[in-house]
Amino acid sequence: MLVHAIPTNATQEFAADVLAGLTRPGQKELPSKYLYDNVGSALFEVISHLPEYGLTRADERLLRRHADEIVDRLGGPVAVAELGSGSGKKTRWLLEAFCRRQQTSYYPVEISRSALVMCERELRDIDAISIVGFEREYLDGLLEVAAYRKSGQRLFVLFLGSTIGNFDRPAGVKFLAEVRRILEPGDCMLLGTDLEKSTAQLLAAYDDELGVTAAFNLNLLARVNRELGADFDLREFAHLATINREARSVEMHLLSKRRQTVSIPAAEVVVEFLEGETIWTESSHKYSIDEVVETTRQAGFRCEAQWIDEEWPFAENLLVAE
Ligand code: TRP
Repeated sequence: MLVHAIPTNATQEFAADVLAGLTRPGQKELPSKYLYDNVGSALFEVISHLPEYGLTRADERLLRRHADEIVDRLGGPVAVAELGSGSGKKTRWLLEAFCRRQQTSYYPVEISRSALVMCERELRDIDAISIVGFEREYLDGLLEVAAYRKSGQRLFVLFLGSTIGNFDRPAGVKFLAEVRRILEPGDCMLLGTDLEKSTAQLLAAYDDELGVTAAFNLNLLARVNRELGADFDLREFAHLATINREARSVEMHLLSKRRQTVSIPAAEVVVEFLEGETIWTESSHKYSIDEVVETTRQAGFRCEAQWIDEEWPFAENLLVAE
């Protein structure tokens, strides 16, 4: 596979983001995109197999069941761009359906190089596919993919899983509007959205019994240790998942079990933590089915179809750029 890699000031950017997030007044935070280094991507892959976390399996079931219908609705030649491809496993069903009809270009956009490599390995056996990976942030990658598009080709953007839920609601609309601006009228997007469900189900999904989600979250501190030379004692922090009823989200934090000081040489900072103080790492907002239609309309899309899983409340939404 051809991979377009990122320029190499990645460590400085990481250090700058860690510095900003841990020294800001009030709630400390670390950007969730840094959860997905090689270790984090592998741990998330394990999370997606946990019985408590039904999200990825719901996503995959819907794609498998409705791939032909989705592809038939699109018609004509398309270039497929995927924002955050992960291992690429659930994308197979769609790509096979496309490739049965015509030669199809697939452009995964991923910040994790190892996920890109896994994705290529997973999908390269499909007949009539050509894969070009972009090791990029979503919008930067999509801009480049759009420049690759051949005339008469429709762009089909996949934004699966529940990544849209990791933005707060206003930022979600803004992100979708930015995607829309890169597209032409008639281009399409398949958007995955995790739907509202019971508190018990949510807490189990984001704080599993085995502790894989805890490891996934704590790996962020381990990564700061590995890449920025910090001295976080991982045993002195705990994974915390809480429900934010007002925001209709699950919040993930890393909680300091005692008063402590951590030094982060590459960010040239020493950070103090109070006992019980947390670092906010990610939120996962849950949607209602009508809200998806309204939110995507505000961003310049028409919601043409929705498919809802019967076992785990989750929807696949087919959007057309207006
Ligand atoms: N995007 C996933 C989600 O919102 C990521 C995720 C699952 C996650 N479990 C997590 C992120 C725990 C941080 C901590 O469902």
